[in-house]
Amino acid sequence: MTTILVTGGAGYIGTHTDIELLNRGYDVITIDNYTNSSPEALNRVEKITGKSVKRYDGDVRDKELLEEIFAHNSIDWVIHFAGLKSVGESVAKPIEYYDNNLSSTLVLLDIMRNHNVKKIVFSSSATVYGAPQELPLTEESPIGGTTNPYGTSKLFQEHILRDVYVADNSWTIVLLRYFNPVGAHESGFLGEDPKGIPANLTPYIAKVAMGELSSVQVYGDDYDTPDGTGVRDYIHVVDLARGHVAVIDKITDKGVHVYNLGTGHGYSVLQVIAAYEKAAGHKIPYTFQPRRPGDIASCYADATKAERELGWKAHLDMAEMAESSLNWQKQNPNGFRTA
Ligand code: NAD
Ligand code: WQD
Repeated sequence: MTTILVTGGAGYIGTHTDIELLNRGYDVITIDNYTNSSPEALNRVEKITGKSVKRYDGDVRDKELLEEIFAHNSIDWVIHFAGLKSVGESVAKPIEYYDNNLSSTLVLLDIMRNHNVKKIVFSSSATVYGAPQELPLTEESPIGGTTNPYGTSKLFQEHILRDVYVADNSWTIVLLRYFNPVGAHESGFLGEDPKGIPANLTPYIAKVAMGELSSVQVYGDDYDTPDGTGVRDYIHVVDLARGHVAVIDKITDKGVHVYNLGTGHGYSVLQVIAAYEKAAGHKIPYTFQPRRPGDIASCYADATKAERELGWKAHLDMAEMAESSLNWQKQNPNGFRTA
């Protein structure tokens, strides 16, 4: 039986990945401090799969807790989702972001090494490419030039993981660069539950569609894109979760493996709003606003390496992203607090 420790396993991408791992027959252990999630999300993972998740409630920076987890469980792989992820908040709280994101990774790697568990999948981000010099972005595109502490923490973590492999090439390190994960589980039991007013596009649109917010603020209508609004590679969170399963299924070689997880297609802000209008069955008001500082015009992946090497590609389209996201929102207007 293969056992996977999922850090941040109660979070948005973590819970969807827990489900796909459990459905595939893997055992899942989670550690989460619930700073941006709820234990209720894990109850729902168990409800959806009919399987149980062994949970540790605590912080990945807590060495004693990590020692206990590795001493009491036979862990084969770690998927490391735990981290803070809000771009805007990271600008205001760089110390908290660097501490949480870098210290957790360092503690985790140290304890993994002590217990001779040397297989890790790391949640990286397309943000490590900075302002793209070429599109689509391949895994060989230059990285760097990040514009906020969150993005820089991802870049640093990639460097740390590469250095760990240089020092000890018995590690298997997989860096997954996610593009824009959106959507929710088809059951309507799980989805993204941001605190306060959402900073990201699709949770914001969903709240406007539900009548909780009055109109979508579209940041910029004068980009060099077909309709002037920003273009991104939105990927359904369930496809993204399945990418992690493909990694665990397929990767046996030691080394540092890097994959983009995206669809390879860009959608503009207006196209995303149109997809949500169709899913909602009514118009969604929006107004144009100035460009958001730090934004780029377009960002999308060349996702062919993952298809070639892992046999994985995204299957769910923008309509499914919009429908599942609204279904989650309708069934859980207060997120996990509804329960
Ligand atoms: P999320 O906030 O929903 O999940 C992260 C989880 O980690 C949360 O449950 C949180 O409580 C937990 N956590 C944070 N710090 C912790 C710590 N020190 N100890 C224990 N638990 C801790 O975020 P998500 O969207 O599921 O993202 C998961 C990972 O993927 C993050 O590393 C994020 O940076 C990365 N990522 C996300 C996106 C995105 O747009 N959602 C894009 C690229 C990369
Ligand atoms: C998407 C598009 C906005 C909100 C961020 C992080 C990135 C990654 C994913 C973790 C852009 C526009 C947005 C709104 C808008 N996270 N927009 N009105 O900025 O591509 O990526 O999340 O790694 O690191 O930077 O995602 O959803 O914020 O924006 O018009 O209210 O929607 O300008 O073109 P982004 P986003």
